[in-house]
Amino acid sequence: MMKLMHVDASAKAEWSNSRALSKYFIHLLHEKIIDLKVDYLDLAVDTPPHVTEAFAIATYIPEQSRSEEMKHALIASDALCKRVLDADLLVLAMPMYNWTIPSTFKAFIDSITRMGVTFISGLDGSYVGQLNGKKVLFITTRGGDLRPGTPYASMDALTPVLKAAFGFLGVSNPIFIDAQPLQFANQEARSAALIRARDELVLLANEWATSIERSNRVSEPSEV
Ligand SMILES: Cc1cc2nc3c(=O)[nH]c(=O)nc-3n(C[C@H](O)[C@H](O)[C@H](O)COP(=O)(O)O)c2cc1C
Repeated sequence: MMKLMHVDASAKAEWSNSRALSKYFIHLLHEKIIDLKVDYLDLAVDTPPHVTEAFAIATYIPEQSRSEEMKHALIASDALCKRVLDADLLVLAMPMYNWTIPSTFKAFIDSITRMGVTFISGLDGSYVGQLNGKKVLFITTRGGDLRPGTPYASMDALTPVLKAAFGFLGVSNPIFIDAQPLQFANQEARSAALIRARDELVLLANEWATSIERSNRVSEPSEV
């Protein structure tokens, strides 16, 4: 069985493009992967809490030394980390808000970046992210056009945040499908941006399905 965690972060519900694109991708995967189990998280509804003082103290105290109060401060984060670690595939969709990630998604990152859980200390003092080996797709939607060569290209403060935060957790090669421009452009340019994103999603769904099928075949017991 393949486990996928699907996260949406747009403040918009049915009018959201990032939600529509992530839903489309999950639909494509369901068509190709029969035993796909999806764990869905809507960050606009289930927003992880901001970092509190109790959390900030408890998170770096080794588990065996935590008080009951400290353990309590970490319960929600423990549960979210488990969901993320359980997944083989992560599909994380979000709009760009003021050049970067939505604050709900930042709260998600703050909840799932946990010493001893999603990253551990290596013997040489370096840190080892525990999300390595997962396939990770970020679907982002932008009102403007920040593609290389455009006047706003240097304003992209979203991609570096995601690369840093997930790179630290062991995700070395996340995939980005960025739909842009979806708002501050004429209708023709907006439609073209959505078509480009959907085409990229089709290609990626095929790629993921093929690679999953191949690895399933390798792990099947051979006949005697
Ligand atoms: C509060 C807010 C801030 C935004 N800031 C930016 C921005 O900095 N750059 C940009 O290109 N688009 C910006 N947009 C536009 C959205 O990124 C764009 O409309 C996107 O398609 C929304 O995705 P959604 O339909 O999934 O909500 C902003 C939209 C909102 C509501």
